[in-house]
Amino acid sequence: MPPTDSTPEKKNENETREAGVDTTTGAGTGEGPGNGSRASGTELIRFDKVTKRFGALTVLDELDFAVDTGKHVTLIGPSGSGKTTILRLLMTLLKPDGGTITVDGEYLTHEKKGDKLVRASERHSREVRKKIGMVFQQFNLFPNMKVLRNVTEAPVHVLGMSKDEADQRARELIEMVGLTEHLDKYPTQLSGGQQQRVAIARALAMRPQVLLLDEVTSALDPELVAGVLDVLRDIAHTTDITMVVVTHEMSFARDISDSVLMFDHGKIIESGPPDKMFTEPEHQRTRDFLTSVL
Ligand SMILES: Nc1ncnc2c1ncn2[C@@H]1O[C@H](COP(=O)(O)OP(=O)(O)O)[C@@H](O)[C@H]1O
Ligand SMILES: [Mg+2]
Repeated sequence: MPPTDSTPEKKNENETREAGVDTTTGAGTGEGPGNGSRASGTELIRFDKVTKRFGALTVLDELDFAVDTGKHVTLIGPSGSGKTTILRLLMTLLKPDGGTITVDGEYLTHEKKGDKLVRASERHSREVRKKIGMVFQQFNLFPNMKVLRNVTEAPVHVLGMSKDEADQRARELIEMVGLTEHLDKYPTQLSGGQQQRVAIARALAMRPQVLLLDEVTSALDPELVAGVLDVLRDIAHTTDITMVVVTHEMSFARDISDSVLMFDHGKIIESGPPDKMFTEPEHQRTRDFLTSVL
């Protein structure tokens, strides 16, 4: 490992410097990362001036954004506005070009070394990322594993859970998503809606503090959408899991959201409770977007 203060890339130097400013601010208020309070009402996720570029394209430009513990936040906005990028950054599938992300009071892509912030090791990011589960548009189940094993695999191999405990928990979750009679099937033997419900059970099996849902019904035949949304409504209403949801299913968003954020070109142009956002949005772009999806 190279010494932490001699980062080879210019980009990383900038990032460390930017991030350092955030630490100072956090320390001053006593609410910075590291204090780790888990009480409800505190921020579970925080983006601080997060910038993400793909080549010449700046998708997120110093985005500030936070989600409180236990809340359900829905991101809406036109295609290409950066919604998936936000979720992929949280999953550490992408790395930010600037700014910091904290999850439950811990830096996701940075680590504190003394009073400096440096880029996190893979190991640190992986530990923090365990608090997050994600369900993708395209299910992404393990095709060579039966339903039960799809759900037990990560708890056993990533969390080190005993096989018996993982098995029992998986059966409960599979029952919750209504697939008990399909435990022994392979993904290809299931409908898209059933596969997506396995993917939801699989994500929950890791006991994440936050569940990310990225257009999870967009790839489904219309008649299979309601079954998946019912499962998600149930989870939203009966658990205290924090949710960050990207969806074009506006009545679902209205049912489960505490707040709705309207994105355009990587910026939050308007946010508020669902009643207000869906009935009397202030911005013309929000009105246009809602007209286009409703
Ligand atoms: N891996 C990538 N490489 C290059 N450009 C990307 C990549 N991922 C996303 N983009 C671009 O970033 C912008 C935001 O994409 P995305 O976050 O997927 O938007 P949304 O989910 O809101 O539709 C789009 O212009 C998209 O083409
Ligand atoms: Mg997307």
